[in-house]
Amino acid sequence: MTRGIFISFEGGEGAGKSTQIRKLADRLTALGSDVVLTREPGGSPGGEVIREILLNGAADRWSPVTETLLMYAARRDHIERIIRPALDRGAIVLCDRFADSTRAYQGAGGEAPASLIAALEEHILGGTRPLLTLIFDLPAELGLARAISRGGEARFESKGLEFHDRLRAGFLEIARREPERCEVIQADAPIDQVAQAVWDVVSTRLDL
Ligand SMILES: Nc1ncnc2c1ncn2[C@@H]1O[C@H](COP(=O)(O)OP(=O)(O)O)[C@@H](O)[C@H]1O
Ligand SMILES: [Mg+2]
Repeated sequence: MTRGIFISFEGGEGAGKSTQIRKLADRLTALGSDVVLTREPGGSPGGEVIREILLNGAADRWSPVTETLLMYAARRDHIERIIRPALDRGAIVLCDRFADSTRAYQGAGGEAPASLIAALEEHILGGTRPLLTLIFDLPAELGLARAISRGGEARFESKGLEFHDRLRAGFLEIARREPERCEVIQADAPIDQVAQAVWDVVSTRLDL
């Protein structure tokens, strides 16, 4: 029986997910919660090895289907080793990207078949799905400019504006289809204003 709470942070490059997830983790920890802050691809030792080959190298290094399978191999390891044990002990798990990123990047952006992604969700996620997903939304140009000035792993950043526009539309479509799970966060505001929007959603949903 899962007792914990699973929250995922989703959106395009430079949307502010990693900035905001740290702020939320600090705030929940200060209130005395058992918080596990983790990320995808990666999050477990095996998942982080797969992350290296997913996020580095040429933009076309992997086809969308191969990329989907690698993402799900990493995700399964992360779920088995980190996410499920944390939820079983009652922790709040905050995950920087999760299954919606595969729908958006490999599905909407890369055109991997939706039926493949749905089958992987069914068989690989099982019941391990977020209770709440925050979707950080901003114009793709603005997110890419932020991500490029930040530096770091850049394989997806190098895919071009048209890809990132499809991504944004993909994330908004997920939010539209699953409003009970997803909340869209306006991410083109100052950091403190975005943090307040995140807190308003989380504290309301979790009844804090
Ligand atoms: N609301 C914001 N306004 C301006 N810059 C921001 C904002 N949020 C994050 N940043 C900056 O943009 C860059 C990307 O943020 P980050 O949190 O790493 O995004 P993501 O994890 O979604 O890719 C970082 O340099 C960060 O400091
Ligand atoms: Mg990040």
